[in-house]
Amino acid sequence: MKTAAPPLPIVSGKGSTLITSSGERFLDGISSWWVNLHGHCHPHIADKIGKQARELEHVLFAGCIHPRAEELSDRILPLFPGNMGKIFYSDNGSTAVEVGLKIAIQYWYNQGIPKTTILSFRNGYHGDTLGMMAAAGKNEFNRPFWNHMFDVVSITPPTKGNEEQSLREIKEALSHHDVACFLFEPLMQGVAGMIPHCPLTLDRLLAECKKQGVLTIADEVMTGFGRTGPLFASEHLANSPDILCVSKGITGGFLPLGATVCTRDVYEHFHANTIQKAFLHGHSYTANPIACASALASLDLLLTDSCEKKRKAIGKAHHTFVKKWQMHPKLIRCETLGTILVLEYRDEAANYFSSIRDSLYTHFIQRNILLRPLGNVLYVLPPYCITGDELTSIYLAIEETLEGSI
Ligand SMILES: Cc1ncc(COP(=O)(O)O)c(C=O)c1O
Repeated sequence: MKTAAPPLPIVSGKGSTLITSSGERFLDGISSWWVNLHGHCHPHIADKIGKQARELEHVLFAGCIHPRAEELSDRILPLFPGNMGKIFYSDNGSTAVEVGLKIAIQYWYNQGIPKTTILSFRNGYHGDTLGMMAAAGKNEFNRPFWNHMFDVVSITPPTKGNEEQSLREIKEALSHHDVACFLFEPLMQGVAGMIPHCPLTLDRLLAECKKQGVLTIADEVMTGFGRTGPLFASEHLANSPDILCVSKGITGGFLPLGATVCTRDVYEHFHANTIQKAFLHGHSYTANPIACASALASLDLLLTDSCEKKRKAIGKAHHTFVKKWQMHPKLIRCETLGTILVLEYRDEAANYFSSIRDSLYTHFIQRNILLRPLGNVLYVLPPYCITGDELTSIYLAIEETLEGSI
């Protein structure tokens, strides 16, 4: 609090715009922490939430069920890649992934097979709970907690130039440890700095895991619901995960909800005559009916041709921008994946603590654009309702940083 600038006092939102108490308007270029899909206060979602709040606001999700959770399960499960047969609800991204990890660990425990080692990508991010910090491995962000984190084996991600190294490391890990699961952000590591993977190599890593019977867990909390083009980043891959975790965009950005889906094979190892084999995990707001209603309303919008067209248009505009600026000497990289545009600026401290971050943030705020760089990495990840003119205004503000004094 001592070093941060005063927060923006946002009182309302409409489409891609956030409005402050004094009426100032900011263009939300990052979908409010990657959650918003169709724009702020979308009337269709708001209506469904209001209706649900008057019908059933909440009921415990143990020993009870409600229609919105059932409808959501029925509608969303067939959308996932692979053969996802079951869904488990929670209430945010960290818990969705934590559930995935716990399912993988208990899957082997229930069978009496001593597979316990967890593999994950170096510099991954899966959330801020102790479990998810540990799952990502030790890094500068979680240093105060190192003594309290369980061990994982960290693999070099298959980024450009590291493909063979990544493959070597996973093969070595698989041959030296009794590996329970491999947890990964598919195709793009978000918090690490929007770092893309080579899809072919990622597929080979997954194939190695499958060969050894190791469960794979895709954390699609950031990439899910169309951010990378198709509905899920895992669709870029031939090998589907056994477990897939989503949150953020699932409700269109209105309410917290997490979901972890798994194959029927995984589920069968919990479906037993003894409660000890059940997956004993729950949160008070698990599968909250209003959150589920919001998710259903968001799906109504997401699955339209018009939404797909908007996503494609964003991708196309990003492409044109990349073509024009990718060789700029101020940039280490300028690339795009689906609706995400990424620019990495050259800087002495090329990391999250880079001072260029604050200059960039201020530059955009002064132009009424909300972009929140990850250190020296600037990214645009807009709600799908963003207009061509709004996107152009973001591009122009970025161009000023390249041609100007930042
Ligand atoms: C890939 C990934 N996993 C998990 C999380 C954690 O989600 P939440 O902030 O909802 O706990 C995030 C958040 O940014 C994320 O990007």
